[in-house]
Amino acid sequence: MRRFFFLSFVFAAIILSASASGNKEEDFIGVSVYRADDAFTEEERQWIEKDSLGLMPVRVKAAENRQSIQNEHISQFIEDGAKAIIVNPVDRTSSGAIIEKCRKADVPLVFINREPLADDMAIWDKVYYVGARAESAGRFEAKIFINYWFSHPEADKNGDGILQFVIIKGEPGHQDTELRSEYLMRTLAESGIVIDRLDEDTALWERERAEDLMSAFLAVHGDAIEAVFANNDQMALGAIDALKNAGYFSDGEYMPVIGCDAIPVGLEALQDGTLLGTVLNDAEGQGKAAYRIAFELASGRIPTEESIGYPLTDEKYVWIPYTMMIQGNNLI
Ligand code: GAL
Ligand code: CA
Repeated sequence: MRRFFFLSFVFAAIILSASASGNKEEDFIGVSVYRADDAFTEEERQWIEKDSLGLMPVRVKAAENRQSIQNEHISQFIEDGAKAIIVNPVDRTSSGAIIEKCRKADVPLVFINREPLADDMAIWDKVYYVGARAESAGRFEAKIFINYWFSHPEADKNGDGILQFVIIKGEPGHQDTELRSEYLMRTLAESGIVIDRLDEDTALWERERAEDLMSAFLAVHGDAIEAVFANNDQMALGAIDALKNAGYFSDGEYMPVIGCDAIPVGLEALQDGTLLGTVLNDAEGQGKAAYRIAFELASGRIPTEESIGYPLTDEKYVWIPYTMMIQGNNLI
């Protein structure tokens, strides 16, 4: 009997606390990611799911890299009564249509990883973006290399005083492709290094494509290449695969390769010395910030720095910092 009273008390307390927060058991937050086989955005998804435990559950869908599929996700979430939606957009320039749809249904939105255009973000006040400043990743990739170049005279393989390099880029139009590449180049040039970009092309964030691209670069430029910069670790690893096939990383043949994200396979390559450096793209911070903003909005509250635990810029942006990583101490 005592046990019965105790349990009733516990259940009553749970019901009271649920109704105190105003949330109902069937409430959920919809999450649509652009595809399910991208190593970095999958890490973000996992952190969103972890953070949701004990709060409001998430329903996750992956859009197979097709905007039409993602648009259906959004309509379905709205129809099913989602309290908020987190979107990792397939095409960030299509975000305006998603915002309009959610505004009409009054379902708050949080974008993550692919930044909507500023004009679209201005359509409605219940729209947020969580990401990282792509410029800073470009600067960090450059800084890692600059330290290496000035402390390794042999890095200038042909001794002409000029850095000959290639860039392996992510998806065209993605802020992390355009800005990481632009600020990489700027920072290299600002350091006083004379630069000669031998080649650049996209490998769409993918390892195998990057391996093919690097093989093509080697076929054209051969030993003239003195460094490889990739917009992410997957592609840096693809380049390393091609370089290994061409005899690099054995018998004293070395090529500095720099990536971005610091995903686990990237960190392994850092440890085994094939990746010179990478930039930590904080999936945990981005996933948690996105979930917490969505949870506050889903609960009918306006997110604040205190409630989400991350600083807000211009009331609707959360910028999670990048960190440079090299072998050894890692964090510099
Ligand atoms: C970037 C990340 C890439 C890829 C891309 C997808 O931030 O560095 O590896 O995941 O997002 O949008
Ligand atoms: Ca040179």
